[in-house]
Amino acid sequence: MGQQSGRKRLADSVVWITGASSGIGEAMAYDFSRMGARLILSARRSGELERVKKNCEGDPGRVQLLPLDLSDTGSLRQKAAEAIAFWGEVDVLINNGGISQRALAAEADLSVIRRIMEVNFFGTVALTQAILPHFIARKSGYVVVVSSVMGKIGTKFRSTYAASKHALQGWFDCLRQEMYEHQVDVTLVCPGFVKTSITLNSVTADGKTYGQMGEGQSKAMSAETFSRKLIPKLEKRKPEIFIGGPEIAAVWVKRLSPGLLNAILRRTKVT
Ligand SMILES: NC(=O)c1ccc[n+]([C@@H]2O[C@H](COP(=O)([O-])OP(=O)(O)OC[C@H]3O[C@@H](n4cnc5c(N)ncnc54)[C@H](OP(=O)(O)O)[C@@H]3O)[C@@H](O)[C@H]2O)c1
Repeated sequence: MGQQSGRKRLADSVVWITGASSGIGEAMAYDFSRMGARLILSARRSGELERVKKNCEGDPGRVQLLPLDLSDTGSLRQKAAEAIAFWGEVDVLINNGGISQRALAAEADLSVIRRIMEVNFFGTVALTQAILPHFIARKSGYVVVVSSVMGKIGTKFRSTYAASKHALQGWFDCLRQEMYEHQVDVTLVCPGFVKTSITLNSVTADGKTYGQMGEGQSKAMSAETFSRKLIPKLEKRKPEIFIGGPEIAAVWVKRLSPGLLNAILRRTKVT
């Protein structure tokens, strides 16, 4: 059971998705378009957003493109105003855009650590703050954040990625408490491995693009399957949603016995 009752169905909503130019965000765009939702698609690469719009099977008049860079936090209030101006309202913000990391914690350059935090944490927070006055004024709204299993546990090579996702968990758990009185719902989504370019696009210790497909991702469910599992759960507006393979069990093992999870991870080949 979600937090609020009498909410708009997703199909009747204006849904704003970041990270819509590939992977999970792209797959969600197709599903929401088929459902008849009005869509606002954001990411940096406008050419890729155009491609996604063309491939949407619903009414193209119900898909608006709003390119943005999450690391340019100063621009995001203006972007929120533009998003609202398309249809006079936004009902759902899906904070999905993000980057990952492949670097040892001891070696990662501080500037690269800041860059990952800037996109994953500060960009997501700034965009959410930009839309919240609209949600609060209407006493209606839904904020979704695509975190990760790495928002709950830690493994090798992903220290800043995990830090950014843990930070999102804390910030949005607090926001949920503050938003009850405003009838604004908050959901944290924790995917396990999903077959996308997230690892390919991840950054190394010196900020270069890693450029290799993740071993976990290559064997994982497709973004389309992930989206199909996710959307019915979003309809229920649960506080947290976990979707993935056996790696999801790590979250529950850590809750029961952090020592046991450490022992398991020490023996696991992490790539
Ligand atoms: N795939 C997995 O196994 C997995 C697991 C757990 C969590 N997640 C999370 O799922 C979300 C989506 O990732 P994905 O797996 O679909 O990977 P992806 O295919 O690499 O997609 C990442 C998206 O984020 C956008 N993005 C990156 N930097 C941005 C910036 N500075 N400003 C605006 N948009 C930016 C990218 O678009 P542009 O490059 O066009 O800007 C792209 O659309 C991420 O938050 C990721 O952490 C993924």
